Amino acid sequence: MINENNNISYGNKDKKNNTQIINQNFIDNKNINFTVTPWEVKGDIDYNKLIEKFGTFEITTNIIEQFKKITGEIHPFLKNKYFFSHRDLDWILKEYQNGNKFYLYTGRGPSGLIHLGHLMPWLFTKYIQDKFNVKLLFQLTDDEKFLFNDKNDLEMIDIFTYENVLDIIAIGFDSAKTNIIIDTKHINYLYPISLEIAKRITFSTAKSVFGFSNSSNIGMIGFPPIQSAPCFLPSVIEKKPTPVLIPAAIDQDPYWRITRDIAEKIGYYKPAQIHSKFIPGLINNGKMSSSKPDSALFTKDDPELIEKKVKNTFTGGQPTVSLQRKLGGNADICPVYWYLKYLFDNEEESIQRYNNCKGGSLLCGDCKNDLIKDVKPFIKDIQRKREKAKDMIKEFMIDGKDLGHKDKK
Ligand code: TYM
Repeated sequence: MINENNNISYGNKDKKNNTQIINQNFIDNKNINFTVTPWEVKGDIDYNKLIEKFGTFEITTNIIEQFKKITGEIHPFLKNKYFFSHRDLDWILKEYQNGNKFYLYTGRGPSGLIHLGHLMPWLFTKYIQDKFNVKLLFQLTDDEKFLFNDKNDLEMIDIFTYENVLDIIAIGFDSAKTNIIIDTKHINYLYPISLEIAKRITFSTAKSVFGFSNSSNIGMIGFPPIQSAPCFLPSVIEKKPTPVLIPAAIDQDPYWRITRDIAEKIGYYKPAQIHSKFIPGLINNGKMSSSKPDSALFTKDDPELIEKKVKNTFTGGQPTVSLQRKLGGNADICPVYWYLKYLFDNEEESIQRYNNCKGGSLLCGDCKNDLIKDVKPFIKDIQRKREKAKDMIKEFMIDGKDLGHKDKK
């Protein structure tokens, strides 16, 4: 709806002024011992507290029912609350039902290879693209990864950009409805919009939301509007205000907060979000992270390496078999249990696994073997599709051009 001042407004709201939500280092807060920012996720994350802190909304059974009316089913990621939080999801679904289609927008910072954690929001994005028959913008923030880490050089990031594009295509997005934007190559599509955004965000806001300081390089400070810009590109492409839904893990939320705060001022809808939890790392209590290769299962890992990593995984089990039989394990803290729950077990199998682990009849070795059995063919299938993707790159690029990468075949 556009009001008489030509500003867009609609029913949904933000719980707080988003820019008041300071860059969250929860370590110092009472009863909170985790950190979630776009660049760091660590500690034992309490997702309910995160909803409260970030001022987002829980995905309720009403919203899930709204989804079901359109899709005819409930996706496991909604049922098992892997996607747990949102902003304006109910509004996006209502608009869709009234014939106002949304665009999907998601992305990747190409600083390394792709692991199972990255795949989660993308698998769900593909599902929504298929079920709702909607277009997708997929941004690769190679500039972000160059600016935010002193060790990253542009040549290395260019190689990972190419590798990551193969993974994105391998997910199976519809090339006719998907455009990939690589910031350093396609900045002309984003730059005018990012200027409109940048002009309306003060340094003081950027500091409080992202934690920038006097020692942050000025490229970092100028970056956030580039990640915000694809939220509004659909409106430019369609030549009318167009809703956008962003599926991502909740670490990216600070970007959407600043974007939502300025959207209506420049005549666009606030972007809606659906936030996921994190897939935990194999060896630590943080998220699966490409900067810690032993913590992650990558799409390029060979079967032997997958087996080795899973066998060495930290679990919620007891130190010995007899203690496990006697005391039972702790599935709640076990990454093996979570990977199986989110990616491979159905609801019934997962409940059974949980109870058998707790009751001591299931040993960690059994769960590890189940995971190895499931994850090996899953990754092999992606590897096969990555090979095919090498010939499909230009179909996906927003400018219709190939990447001309040396390692093409
Ligand atoms: P990046 O490359 O850190 O992460 C890409 C996507 O994967 C999610 N993610 C995870 N999800 C579950 N478990 C994990 N262990 C895990 N690690 C990462 C992230 O939330 C993200 O959805 N700045 C962004 C790139 C970007 C983007 C976007 C992301 C640009 N535009 C729009 C999402 C939506 C980045 O560096 O993501």
